[in-house]
Amino acid sequence: MNVKSTFDDDVATTSTLLKRTPKSWPIPNSLITHGPAHIIAVVNQKGGVGKTTTTINLGASLAELGRRVLLVDFDPQGALSVGLGVNAHELRQEETVYQVLMDSHADIEKVILKTSIPGMDLLPANKDLAGAEVTLVNEMAREFFLKRRLASVSDYYDVILIDCQPTLGLLTLNALTAAHGVIVPLQCEFFALRGFAQLQENLERVRMSLNPTLELVGILATMYDKKTLHSREVLARILEAFPDKVFETVIAQTVRFPETTVAGEPITTYANSSGGAASYRRLAREFIAIGGSK
Ligand SMILES: Nc1ncnc2c1ncn2[C@@H]1O[C@H](COP(=O)(O)OP(=O)(O)O)[C@@H](O)[C@H]1O
Ligand SMILES: [Mg+2]
Repeated sequence: MNVKSTFDDDVATTSTLLKRTPKSWPIPNSLITHGPAHIIAVVNQKGGVGKTTTTINLGASLAELGRRVLLVDFDPQGALSVGLGVNAHELRQEETVYQVLMDSHADIEKVILKTSIPGMDLLPANKDLAGAEVTLVNEMAREFFLKRRLASVSDYYDVILIDCQPTLGLLTLNALTAAHGVIVPLQCEFFALRGFAQLQENLERVRMSLNPTLELVGILATMYDKKTLHSREVLARILEAFPDKVFETVIAQTVRFPETTVAGEPITTYANSSGGAASYRRLAREFIAIGGSK
């Protein structure tokens, strides 16, 4: 297992941008006991910013570090499931997170799938999940459904990552209610900050009414192109606005990520020694070091 990346030199960091020495995130101790899971929602109301890519590759990198990981596909588009090689659109309703959410007697363990990555499991979704959003509207405590369902597997896993859809509707509210923390991928482009201000207001609303201890674990700069002034300026602005809340690890733009979607596997196995794989491995070490999970 290549957890000790020798490719860290290729990884973009906020330190490099600020002309500081990049940090060295240690390889965490292996765990002797597992659970209870730290639940993290990967959120941004904008699509195409790297939520699904981050869920898959941070998950795979945490699994490489010996963490038991569950990925929850919480987007009716099913991109997380497809990105892990699952033919989500052929799954029956009772084989997806829809069933887990809507039927309190459903056996969540039967719906959870193993992935090609040892230690990383998947709760798959497809377009049926959109129906859950409609049905939930009429339920009591409709924001708490996912939280209750995850409670039954929480003791087994160390980390549960929820890949949210790009809206702040009822499904995402369920994810934010279930979560201890939030990771926000921000694409290094001009309107990223404006979108984030809106998201912050919504997180504050969730804290006030549903989940007072919800924590912003970090903002993750994605699709960074160090060669363009634009990318560097946007990252500098994000850092200026939230100096303590940006992951030091930055995810650079590379065609390797779209390739992995087609391959149906994480970049850590598809292109084990690529800069992209090194970035997410580094992010996993940083995530643990700053207390994102054990
Ligand atoms: N760092 C990156 N560099 C280049 N392409 C990326 C990167 N991260 C993600 N992508 C690609 O961008 C598209 C959107 O990413 P995705 O993770 O699906 O975003 P979201 O889940 O926020 O909609 C996908 O085709 C993905 O392969
Ligand atoms: Mg997505």
